[in-house]
Amino acid sequence: MVYTPTLCFSCESGVTDSKRIVLGITGGIAAYKAAELVRLLVKDGVEVRVVMTQAACGFITPATLQALSNKPVFTDMWDARVSDNMAHIELSRGTDLIVVAPATADFLAKLANGLADDLLSTLSIARECPLLVAPAMNRQMWDNKATQRNVAQLARDGVVILGPASGDQACGEVGMGRMLEAQQIFNEINSFLQPKLLAGSNVLITAGPTFEAIDPVRGITNRSSGKMGYAIARAALDAGAKVTLVSGPTNIDVPSAAHVERVESTNEMFTAVKKHANAADIFIGVAAVADYRVEKTSKQKIKKTNRDLNLKLVPNPDILAWVAALPKPPFCVGFAAESQKLHEYADAKRRRKKVPLMVANLAQDAIGADDNEITLLDDSGIQTLPRAPKTVLARQLVAYIAKLYSSDKTRIS
Ligand code: CTP
Repeated sequence: MVYTPTLCFSCESGVTDSKRIVLGITGGIAAYKAAELVRLLVKDGVEVRVVMTQAACGFITPATLQALSNKPVFTDMWDARVSDNMAHIELSRGTDLIVVAPATADFLAKLANGLADDLLSTLSIARECPLLVAPAMNRQMWDNKATQRNVAQLARDGVVILGPASGDQACGEVGMGRMLEAQQIFNEINSFLQPKLLAGSNVLITAGPTFEAIDPVRGITNRSSGKMGYAIARAALDAGAKVTLVSGPTNIDVPSAAHVERVESTNEMFTAVKKHANAADIFIGVAAVADYRVEKTSKQKIKKTNRDLNLKLVPNPDILAWVAALPKPPFCVGFAAESQKLHEYADAKRRRKKVPLMVANLAQDAIGADDNEITLLDDSGIQTLPRAPKTVLARQLVAYIAKLYSSDKTRIS
């Protein structure tokens, strides 16, 4: 099933501009989490139409979902509000995605076998859009061979299975079968709705700081958190790219779908980049690479004396400039963190390193923060993306890179 939502470069969330989702709720205690999911989606500008099974209505009321979604809730095949009793067709048309959360063992079994005896199962079969299900059940029900068989069948049929997670269960037991949290399901939906602008391309990204050892316990590093580089890695994955992330030391969760190489020093980062550069279509150097390293790292801890201590620093290789100078370079994007004269310095850097796109930001604004303001400098001129969460900027930036990359490819071929 091919799904190509329209590109939304400027929307605030960077994601789901005017998207329509049908949220199916089946009868499990995790139905209460669906209320929060509706709230998150509606807040993000998504139009949510809720469809509940009869059993779901025993756990949470349609009135709650109606208030949160600001739309009528559907529970019945024979709904007089829809002409010709065609609620199942009406609801499944013009919908970008159907999400069933929670999805009970019974519902998964029905879906896997093509049964359609209520509104939700019928519209799921009548769909023309992708279907995501978030299973929720007791751990033994989840482990049951029939459930596992059904889940495997659904995956083969192209249904996307979200979770479940492991942990405390409503029945008092602990194990696999908990529904993902509303925020996690929301993130998955968001990722799923991204336009696949980089499908089929390999993106190599450096992120975080580098660390240059002085002795076994000390070193030179910088304040880069890695947040922007990791957000770009996620955005590139969501855009359908294969991502290799070469990361200096950070405390951030690695995007699970990326190939990650953890490094410490600039030389280690350089070695990892050299290994992957030839296969890359796009290289994004987000890392705050140390420009110098200590010439001789001491094998033993340096002891304190009353005299001055001189460390000789020698220049590190410039990874971005090296990649950009390859005979067939990937499309290269650099980052310039400056403390003053932002445009002037970033433009000089772009020319010196010979990269088509330089992303500039004020270092004092960006380091460690969750949001940022960035300026893009390329052949077409200079434009600023207003202050926004790094995750949003990353999506906007990836959309822009995809646009430049595809016109670059057209120009070269
Ligand atoms: N960069 C790199 N290797 C280096 C230094 C920088 O790959 N040894 C990359 C960074 O990842 C970034 C870009 O070059 O994409 C600009 O980094 P920055 O540190 O701002 O540039 P420098 O050339 O180091 O200039 P300066 O520190 O003097 O501002």
